[in-house]
Amino acid sequence: MHNTFQIKTFEEYLEVYQNSISEPEKFWADIASHFQWHKTWDNVLEWDFTKPQIKWFEGAQLNITINCLDRHLPEKANHTALIWEPNSPNDSYRTYSYQSLFNEVCRMANVLKLMGIKKGDRVCIYMPMIPDLAFAILACARIGAIHSVIFAGFSANSISDRIIDSHCKHIITADAMSRGAKQIPVKAVVDEAIENIDFIENVLVINHQNWPVIYKENRDISYDILKQKVSVECEAEMMQAEDELFILYTSGSTGKPKGVVHTCGGYMVYTGYTFANVFQYQSKDIYWCTADIGWITGHSYMIYGPLLNAATTLMFEGVPNFPDPGRFWQVIDKHHVNIFYTAPTAIRSLMACGIEHVLPYNLSSLKTLGTVGEPINEEAWQWYFDHIGKGKCPIVDTWWQTETGGILLSALAGISPIKPTHAGLPLPGIQPVLLNSDGNEISENNVEGYLAVKFPWPSMIRTTWGDHERCRMNYFDTYKGYYFTGDGAKRDENGLYRIIGRVDDVINVSGHRFGTAEIENAINQTPNIVESAVVGFPHDIKGQGIYAFVVVENFTTDIENLKMQIIETIVEKIGRIAKPDKIQIISGLPKTRSGKIMRRILRKITEGEIENLGDTSTLLDPLIVEEIIKGRI
Ligand code: PRX
Repeated sequence: MHNTFQIKTFEEYLEVYQNSISEPEKFWADIASHFQWHKTWDNVLEWDFTKPQIKWFEGAQLNITINCLDRHLPEKANHTALIWEPNSPNDSYRTYSYQSLFNEVCRMANVLKLMGIKKGDRVCIYMPMIPDLAFAILACARIGAIHSVIFAGFSANSISDRIIDSHCKHIITADAMSRGAKQIPVKAVVDEAIENIDFIENVLVINHQNWPVIYKENRDISYDILKQKVSVECEAEMMQAEDELFILYTSGSTGKPKGVVHTCGGYMVYTGYTFANVFQYQSKDIYWCTADIGWITGHSYMIYGPLLNAATTLMFEGVPNFPDPGRFWQVIDKHHVNIFYTAPTAIRSLMACGIEHVLPYNLSSLKTLGTVGEPINEEAWQWYFDHIGKGKCPIVDTWWQTETGGILLSALAGISPIKPTHAGLPLPGIQPVLLNSDGNEISENNVEGYLAVKFPWPSMIRTTWGDHERCRMNYFDTYKGYYFTGDGAKRDENGLYRIIGRVDDVINVSGHRFGTAEIENAINQTPNIVESAVVGFPHDIKGQGIYAFVVVENFTTDIENLKMQIIETIVEKIGRIAKPDKIQIISGLPKTRSGKIMRRILRKITEGEIENLGDTSTLLDPLIVEEIIKGRI
């Protein structure tokens, strides 16, 4: 491969894009031929959005780790694959060449085999941001096990739901982790999660911090012991293109997170291709994506995309404001980072800390900046462009989703037009449309509508684990013949897309997705709570904050204590990342006569739009709206 599919000019982009939609199969077959396949495909694409059934490169065989690692060894064995920057700047960073990463991955793959893990088995990975997490992911892929990474901020309860849903008999974890000044046990959370699950066969424990860990006999095993017993050679398992590569759970509008399934061949082709093109990665560039591997961005653009391109990828264990809000900029200077990819929420929070935390750093290594996860506001965009990019680095605002596997809308850095707050044009092979509420395509520009995609791309969701109907209902049923994203968008006069936000009951808090029902389910399990309604409200730093309206059974005067109990329940049921920003105790929810909660009214109240609530007279109890307005926080 080695970047021969990198587009170099805007004219070339226009031509490639045109070809990619007029002859998509030919286009993707060409791109795919840049990768290493054990056997090539019989058929490029077979698809039917009504079922949905999507098959890319059927009949082909491959292993993605051969493409991420083995393939680069002849020429790049000593080239740095991974730089690991620890939580504390006083600790030493580590680097892994392609050869040493290959050895580590094979070693761990052999350990997984020793544990009895086989092709097709699901493996739950619950770990801090340490190199072993990358090894674990790639080791699973090496032996054909399906990894299911769970972000380390999720609670025991969330882990256990996910383990049960995909029946993971094997878990990889670590003793403990550091996040800023805090040290947090990790293995103990796993212990709690699996206490009542009887099918767990083993838990592999990585020692990261010498934290005391209780090993359960015949179940828990230390990696340090097992790794002594294996070699650093491990032949890659041959996978069919449509075999599952991983599951990643994400929130939707229903209460239960769903396991988005990605498959080997298409995911490889799309993440490899888009990484090279969006970021315009050049050999020897140092690339840093700040996302946690627990989210799709970490999977696609910290691990797979960069490694498929023989890139140098930086992994950071810590947080942006530790030991001070200059940490990101310090790390950029320290490692001479050329391409920096982060979330708007991080930019906004660092911007709020003041320019004095940026000024001590030079940042001259930077060539390209990127954002992902949520809409970026004009002010944050400008600050990022002026103060971090020093006015010379293009910002790629990349729009995509867990379900899309890779970036669908974005500028190509330095090549396509950049317009602040706009994700921009579709990548080659992507056919976005805006639909009106009747589900008809709006063909002109300068319009707003529901964002959907009308043709498959290689890394799109194949199913939701264990429940294909849910996948159909969620993404392919609302607008027949389309993949529906759940987002609303605008298209400007030049065809550039701007994402407005979710149009379903999903809240995007600091780029993390939560279903309102998921949070409500948790709140309702607090003693003395009758029901609740959760909505997102505009938040200066997080993009959206969580506002919970809660109805209690017996009114209490100790509101603060009640709020604390609610927060504790959410932390227990979901995790600390889902804590509401505001909780308002009310005597009833605004409902229609048929009992439907009027979230639109609640949303408007939280946005301060109380003049503009529409007709409330048809509500079951119109007075409730007055009460809520008076008590709003
Ligand atoms: O609403 C969109 C928003 O994040 C959602 C997808 O969330 P998730 O699956 O967690 O993946 C996040 C990282 C890919 C989308 O439906 N979103 C993502 N990127 C952008 C965005 N909103 C605006 N601009 C973006 N660049």
